[in-house]
Amino acid sequence: MDRDVAAYAPATVSNVACGFDIMGFALDEPGDKVTVRFSRGKDVTIRRISGCTSTLPMNPARNTAGAPVIEMLKHCRVRRGVEIEIRKGLPAGSGIGSSAASAVAAAVACNALLGAGLSKEEILTFALHGEKIASGGVHVDNLSPSLWGGFILVRGYDPLDIVQIPISAPMWCVIVRPHMEIRTKESRKMLPRTVPLSDVVRQTGNAAGLVAGLMSGDFGLISRSLHDVIAEPARRHLIPGFADMKSAALDAGALGCSLSGSGPSVFALAKSKRTARQIGIAMGSILNSVSCPHSVIVSGISSAGARIIS
Ligand code: HSE
Repeated sequence: MDRDVAAYAPATVSNVACGFDIMGFALDEPGDKVTVRFSRGKDVTIRRISGCTSTLPMNPARNTAGAPVIEMLKHCRVRRGVEIEIRKGLPAGSGIGSSAASAVAAAVACNALLGAGLSKEEILTFALHGEKIASGGVHVDNLSPSLWGGFILVRGYDPLDIVQIPISAPMWCVIVRPHMEIRTKESRKMLPRTVPLSDVVRQTGNAAGLVAGLMSGDFGLISRSLHDVIAEPARRHLIPGFADMKSAALDAGALGCSLSGSGPSVFALAKSKRTARQIGIAMGSILNSVSCPHSVIVSGISSAGARIIS
């Protein structure tokens, strides 16, 4: 029997308020682990899905980890079967890049199993096959930080142009995750088809301001830039207590607070771990007051992206 290859890919916060579809960063934890091995059969099969999973498809062509493996085998003209095991560290539909983490871990593990020597840019195109299944759209703002780590700007989609933004001052992130599911495919349908020019001006100003603030370590500029006038107004009604959670986060010292990806998770950024913890308590108490079960994660922005772990 051939060896197992396992890869880990971290959860991510995408959009980061002002960067709809173009910004994201990686968390230390949680993340997904995907193990691949050659099998005796000829097909790609999913042997097991464990961890925090609801009902994820066992059909590899419809699974976010299965699709990248199928496509990579085709591309590399490998006519052997591959068996996949998925250990979900983050629940599907939680807004912290669950589908992206599985897709990236699968693509990274398969690249190593095949000895394909693909670049990160190439691995990203295979992982995208998985993300498309989950979200219906072509967006890489969760995939790319999960793969590269750190804070990522997607400068362009055609062709893909991924830029790593160096962060001058360390920050902490708190994620409050209501225990409910929002399907990205559905929540993308709620977005406006057209955006007023005045909103485009505000959003691009904030996006540019955030990048400048991250690179110079200017917390004031970061804080002034963490506003979303496009996606948040269209989606915030989906999240219980969102407005109060956001006020509580800002009162507790958050630099900014918005939906993580398409929600339901809500993120806030803070200058210190201690403040991030206090923000998490303040946001959590709002969800307690509306009897909404939830989890709180406090994490640094991880510079490490997906990696082979065995
Ligand atoms: N940028 C995507 C969206 C992320 O907001 O739809 C989804 O996780």
